[in-house]
Amino acid sequence: MTAQPGPARRRELHLNAFLKPPGEFLAAWRHPNAAADAGVNIRHVIELARTAERARFDAVFFADLVGVPFADQEVLSRVSVVNDSFEPTTLIAALATATSRIGLIATASTTYNEPYHLARTFASLDHISGGRAGWNLVTSLSDAEARNFGLDRHVDHELRYERAAEFFAVVTGLWDSFDDDAFHHDQMSGIYFDETKLHRLDHRGKHFAVTGPLNIARPPQGRPVIVQAGSSDRGRALAASVADVVFTQHADLAGAQAFYADLKATARAAGRDPDHVVVLPGLSTIVGRTLDEAEDRFDRLTSLLDPRVALADLAYWLGGVDLAAHPLDGPLPDLPPSNQSQSAQRAIVERARAGGLTIRQLAQQRARDVRTVVGTPETIADHIQEWFEGRGADGFNVIFPYLPDTLDDFATLVIPELRRRGLFRTEYTGRTLRDNLGLPRPPSRWALP
Ligand SMILES: Cc1cc2nc3c(=O)[nH]c(=O)nc-3n(C[C@H](O)[C@H](O)[C@H](O)COP(=O)(O)O)c2cc1C
Repeated sequence: MTAQPGPARRRELHLNAFLKPPGEFLAAWRHPNAAADAGVNIRHVIELARTAERARFDAVFFADLVGVPFADQEVLSRVSVVNDSFEPTTLIAALATATSRIGLIATASTTYNEPYHLARTFASLDHISGGRAGWNLVTSLSDAEARNFGLDRHVDHELRYERAAEFFAVVTGLWDSFDDDAFHHDQMSGIYFDETKLHRLDHRGKHFAVTGPLNIARPPQGRPVIVQAGSSDRGRALAASVADVVFTQHADLAGAQAFYADLKATARAAGRDPDHVVVLPGLSTIVGRTLDEAEDRFDRLTSLLDPRVALADLAYWLGGVDLAAHPLDGPLPDLPPSNQSQSAQRAIVERARAGGLTIRQLAQQRARDVRTVVGTPETIADHIQEWFEGRGADGFNVIFPYLPDTLDDFATLVIPELRRRGLFRTEYTGRTLRDNLGLPRPPSRWALP
C-alpha cells in the first residue's frame, strides 16, 4: 500500500543507516571489534543490513567515490574503505535478496555515468527489491576521480550541477517509458505489451541526446527515491527541485533550522509539497551506559588514527589543498574556492577561524567529528527529539563511527528510548521505501490528470 500523506498525517521521525563498513571513522578497521575486511565481506554487510532492518530503520545507504582520494601511497596504505569496498549498486542488489522491508540507497555519479545506464540500473534495482531502491545523486568530488574518465581535472562545479539537472530529467523521463499498466504478457494473443502505452523520450539537450525507450517496465515506486547531499547554493537548488531526501551536515541546531526552513521554502516556491522533501542531517553517535564510558570509547577510537591520515583527510575536504606547503603549527591559509564540496570547505574554514586553530590542531580535532554526539541513550534521544521537534530535521542520517558496535548500540539502546518517547515506529507499515518515508508514488508524466 502506498502511503497518502496529507495535512492531518502525524509527522514521523525517519532514520537512515549510513553504512560504511567497517565504519565512518578512517581508522575504524583497526578497532578490535571490527571486521578489518568489512568493505568486501558480504556476509558481514548482510548482517549489518539485517540489524538495521530489525531496528526498523527506513533505509541503509552506501556512499561511493569513483577513485581513491589520497595520492600519497603511504597514507593510502593506512586506510580501508576508500581502497577496498563493494560498488554500491551491485551491493544493494545482493542486499535486496537478503532483506525484505528496509530501503536500499546506493550512490551514483551524474558526472561519470550516462543517464541510460543509470536509469536501467536503478529501475532494475527497484524491481529486484520490490520497490525499495533509492539513488543518492552525486556530482563526484575530486580530480583523482576525473583522471579515471579521460580528464585531467574534475568538471567545474557549476557545469556539473547543470549536467546533473539534465541527467535527472533524462533518467526520470526514461523511467516513464512504459505506462504502469503497459505489460499484459498475454500468451494467448501473443501481445506482450500494449503499444499505445509506450512513450519514446526523444531527448535532445545540451549534455545528452537520448532516444529511449528504456528496456524495462516502469519501476514499482514509479521513481526510485532520489537523495541529494550537496549544500552549496547550486546543490540546495537541485535538492529543492528534485530530491525526495536531503542529507545535510550541521554543527548546531540553529544552522540546521536555517537550512531546513530555507530548503522547504525553496521546494514550495518550486511548486512542490515541502513535506515531500525529507531533510536528514548527519548524526554520528557513540553510546555508553554512562557519559564516562562513552567518552572513553571515543578516545580509544580516535587514538587509532595515524596523524598523516588525519592531515591528508583534512587537505582532501578543503578541496585538495597541498597543506605540506604551509607550517603545521601556523594558521590555515586563505584558500581558493573548492571545486570539490564547497559546503564541506566552508564548514572546516569556519571551524578553524572560530577556534583560532593551527593546521595541526584542526586535523586532530576533526578526528573528533563535530557531528558526533557522545552520550547515554537518554542524552542522544534528547538530541534527536530536540532537532526533530525544533524543525531542524525530519530525522537523521545516522553515521556509525565503527561497525558493528555503534549500530548494535544504536539499535538496542537508542531506538528503544525513542520508542518509549513515542518518536519512532515499532513496525514497518508499507512495503516500499516511499511508504517508509511517507512519500507518494509519482505518477508517470504521461498519465492523465
Ligand atoms: C552525507 C553525505 C554523503 C555524501 N556522499 C557522497 C558520496 O558518496 N559520493 C560523492 O561523490 N559525494 C558525496 N557527498 C557529496 C555531495 O553529494 C556533493 O556532491 C558535494 O558535497 C559537493 O556539493 P556542494 O559543493 O554543493 O556541497 C556526500 C555529502 C554528504 C553530506
